[in-house]
Order: sequence, then structure tokens, then C-alpha cells
Amino acid sequence: MKNDPVSSPSVVFSEFGIPTQVASFGAVDCRVIGAEDALVEIEAAPINPADLNVLEGRYGILPALPAVPGAEGVGRVRQVGEGVRGVSVGDRVLLPHGVGTWRRLVVVAAEELVTLPEAVPVLQAAMLRVNPATALCMLREFVSLSPGEWIVQNAANSGVGRSVIQIARACGWRTVNVVRRKGLEAELTQIGADAVVEEGEGLSARILEATGGVAPRLGLNAVGGESALGLAKVLAEEGTHVTYGAMGLQPLRIPNGVLIFKNIEFRGFWVSRWYKKASRDEVAELFSRLVAWAEAGVLHTPVEATYPLESITTALLHAQRGQRSGKILLCP
Ligand SMILES: NC(=O)c1ccc[n+]([C@@H]2O[C@H](COP(=O)([O-])OP(=O)(O)OC[C@H]3O[C@@H](n4cnc5c(N)ncnc54)[C@H](OP(=O)(O)O)[C@@H]3O)[C@@H](O)[C@H]2O)c1
Repeated sequence: MKNDPVSSPSVVFSEFGIPTQVASFGAVDCRVIGAEDALVEIEAAPINPADLNVLEGRYGILPALPAVPGAEGVGRVRQVGEGVRGVSVGDRVLLPHGVGTWRRLVVVAAEELVTLPEAVPVLQAAMLRVNPATALCMLREFVSLSPGEWIVQNAANSGVGRSVIQIARACGWRTVNVVRRKGLEAELTQIGADAVVEEGEGLSARILEATGGVAPRLGLNAVGGESALGLAKVLAEEGTHVTYGAMGLQPLRIPNGVLIFKNIEFRGFWVSRWYKKASRDEVAELFSRLVAWAEAGVLHTPVEATYPLESITTALLHAQRGQRSGKILLCP
């Protein structure tokens, strides 16, 4: 029967804590498919740092428990309500932000779905909504960049960092990229990085050496602590320092001179907030760009492994490892 609730295999959690201890494989009932809804069979969903933070109970927004984790993903429409227009059974679609994607089936409002061309590789499509969207928004929202202008960022080997490199290259901006370990220069240069420097002693001087002494007007920080400070020190007068992650778990330390003599602006960015505030047209424009780049292979995030939902504990352990060569995804 079309309107019977469907049970779906799923990852579930009913308390916050250590991800591998609180998340387990189980089942949830999908809500009944309403006239404006679509039933989507999920094909792939990444494990992002924010998903781990949600499981731990330390994120900007937390679900009522029990809940299904997973902020983003991609799937195929399997059923639609009688009032649905613009989305058809069989379409590959991006799921709306934060519906709990670590499951096989989900019912969502059809108007929230973004239909994707088949040419976008499914694993790449599954990762478009969070990291590449964050990269594109940060590159456009804070500073009006001129052709050839430099941007400095840390955690440059992350999903967001690589998207920043690829989008900046596509748009004609240059990136100087800070990483925490050796051996990444060739790979990041190959995807479009103009310079790669390692964290550590004399970071600011080495960044400026890489840009030929040009101070960037935009710095993107996902680490905090000394690394964030290194970025702040090299920014041009009235430049903008944007914090969007805190991988190093260290707060920002801002020297008075950076504020007084250079009037650097310190901002934050959260893509969930962007989606909440953006108009439908703005979201559509964002996705038209990202999808076109993903289809053309301009945007590509490496994948280290995929796991079925049943292997959630192994998948979570893997996602928490440092020095990965790519993202970890669940393929229900
Ligand atoms: N604010 C937003 O809207 C938003 C949106 C998306 C992502 N984020 C944040 O952006 C960050 C990156 O996310 P992602 O999905 O792109 O990450 P990811 O692909 O899972 O990669 C994590 C990266 O962080 C690096 N890293 C880990 N610990 C570090 C430390 N202590 N110091 C320096 N680098 C460290 C890793 O370096 P190795 O390669 O050396 O292991 C790796 O390159 C996370 O903090 C995430 O929460 C924020």
C-alpha cells in the first residue's frame, strides 16, 4: 500500500557520547508519504567531522533523540505523493540538509530535493552539499576577490580545503595552503594549489615567501590556535579571517596589534546557517555551479573507503583516523 509507513535499515543513536559507542545499526520507521513527499532510497552519505560532533553532543544544533545521524547524502526517488511535480521516480537527487542520511530509505518534502544529472559520480554527488558548498560560500561571501588574488587557508588537505583549491583555481584565484604534514605538496599542486606550506615555526614568513610577499585579503581557518594566528598575521590591512572549523580544538588567540594596526575582521561561517537564511534561488544557483563543476571533474573529493550501514562501528573508527587519503562514506 502506497501510504503504509516503511521500515528502513538505519544507523541510530539514543544518547550523545563516544560515536562508536552510541551509534549502532538498527531500523527506523519512515513517516507516511504525504501528497507532496518523495520516498528516496539513499545510495551514499559521507561521515563528516560535524556528524561526529553531533554524535558527541557538541554541535551548533542537535537532534531530539533517538535520531539518525548524517547531514548529507544522495539517493534515488522510489515513490512520490500524488501532488509532486518536478521530481520523478528514478531521479537521482541530493537530500535536504540534516534529514538523517545514514539509512536506506527516507521520506522528505519533494520540493526540497535537488535533481542531479547522471553524469555526476554518485560518491561525489553525496559530498556536494556540505564541503564544496562551504568552500564556495566562503570564497564569495566575505571578500570580493579580483582575478589572480591570493587566499590563504589551513587544513588544506581536508574536503573543504580541497574544494577551496579547486574552486579558486576554476575562478582564477590563487591559494597558499597550510597542511600539518609532509608529502601533500605534489597532490595538492596537481589539483590546483599554487603553494603548499607546512604548519610550524615561522609559518607566517613561509606563507608570505610563497606569495612573493603579497598579503592575502582572505584567510580561511579550520584549525584554530597557532595555525589560525599564523594566518591572521599575514593578512593584508582590513583583510578578513574566517573561522569555519576547529580541528585543533584550540581557541583563537588574537594579538592586539592585528586588530589595532591592521583592522583585520574576524568572522565565522556555518553552512547550516547559510542554508537557513538563503533564498530558494540562491540555493539553486549554488547547486547549479557545484553540480556543473562536479560533472566536469573540476570538483573532486578523494574517497578512501565506503562501508555498508551494518559496518557503522568500523566506518566511524576509520573516519576518525588522521592522515586519510580521502573521505569515508556509507553506502546503504
Ligand atoms: N562551518 C561549516 O559550515 C563547515 C562546513 C564543512 C566543514 N566544516 C569543518 O571543516 C573542517 C574540515 O572538514 P572536512 O570534512 O573537510 O574534513 P576531512 O575531509 O574529514 O579532513 C579533516 C582534515 O583536518 C585535518 N586535521 C585534523 N586534525 C587537525 C589538526 N589538529 N590540525 C590541523 N589539521 C588537522 C586533517 O589533516 P590530515 O590529512 O593530516 O589528517 C584533514 O586534512 C571540520 O572542522 C569541519 O567540521 C565546517
